[in-house]
Amino acid sequence: MYPFFFRTVLSRIDPETAHHGAMTVIRVLGIPPFAWIARGLTAPAPELATTALGLRFASPFGVAAGFDKDVIGAPGLDALGFGHVEVGTITAVPQEGNPRPRLFRLVPDRAVINRMGFNNAGAEAAAARLERLRRRRRRRPVLGVNIGKSRVVDVDAATDDYVRSASLLAPLADYLVVNVSSPNTPGLRGLQAVETLRPLLEAVRDTAGTTPLLVKIAPDLPDDEVVAVAQLAVDLGLAGLIATNTTLSREGLRTDEDVVSAAGAGGLSGAPLRSRSLEVLRLVRRNVPAGFCVISVGGVDTAEDVQERLDAGADLVQGYTAFLYRGPLWARQINRGLVRLRASGRA
Ligand code: FNR
Repeated sequence: MYPFFFRTVLSRIDPETAHHGAMTVIRVLGIPPFAWIARGLTAPAPELATTALGLRFASPFGVAAGFDKDVIGAPGLDALGFGHVEVGTITAVPQEGNPRPRLFRLVPDRAVINRMGFNNAGAEAAAARLERLRRRRRRRPVLGVNIGKSRVVDVDAATDDYVRSASLLAPLADYLVVNVSSPNTPGLRGLQAVETLRPLLEAVRDTAGTTPLLVKIAPDLPDDEVVAVAQLAVDLGLAGLIATNTTLSREGLRTDEDVVSAAGAGGLSGAPLRSRSLEVLRLVRRNVPAGFCVISVGGVDTAEDVQERLDAGADLVQGYTAFLYRGPLWARQINRGLVRLRASGRA
């Protein structure tokens, strides 16, 4: 039913407008009694429960950063069957992001290009929402909090800016992520160079206290730099690494070249990212100790894809773009598929 609705209705609506519409529905699904009903239909089977980062996850499959930038949809996403929600990217200074349009579908590739530019209400607003969410008695999802650099802050002053967000948000997060890999904030990806990344991660680690800290990397880093960042994260005692963010590559796309170039600058996500994301996961896993948490994200669409990441050594798996193509029951489909794969002995 959803593919028909996507083809006939959604694909004709501006993708960001469609996202806001979906978020309204998700917010409603987070409120009782709708949350109870949704959860009854989508709750992950008990055998999917897993432990990572010292936390219990109802499913290894969660929502990647960027979907719920302002901490408004987490209870609804939980009710839809996701095992965790990584909110953000959140910046210390509230910002509107890039001018619209800034999100584009590449339907033949089951991909999107985005140059959102960290549109978000800022760390103080996010902290207030997280506090409210934690104070509520009813169950809440595992919440990762992803932080980035404010656009108005110079790259040289990035550390203080990240520390400001970390001091507000780490006490309210189940885990904290330093995002240095989005392509839509000028100079941000340059922070992945080990010599700049070391002092940044050290400062955030010291601020985060006991909250597990992870770093999220780009798929476009050459292999030796992926390994260098992974080893740095281990050396600094970080809890883990998330691989990967969106790519700047436009190679091998099926979508009409005019459509791709009309979309313009931004990060590409979805199916075309799949093989590089898996490759980076394998590379990272080979270079970090067993207890170091690796979260795999990029081009995951089916339960087979999720199981492939788990088999390749991911502790947790995330997705975003395929949610737009598969619709609200995506997490349920993945969770049920994982159970089937396990029952059939293919996992
Ligand atoms: C993202 N992504 C992202 N990542 C991040 O760390 N901070 C962010 O704010 C965003 N924002 C964002 C917006 C949009 C519209 C998309 C599609 C993606 C990247 C996302 O978390 C993920 O790493 C990639 O999209 C790859 O996964 P998928 O989409 O291929 O499953």
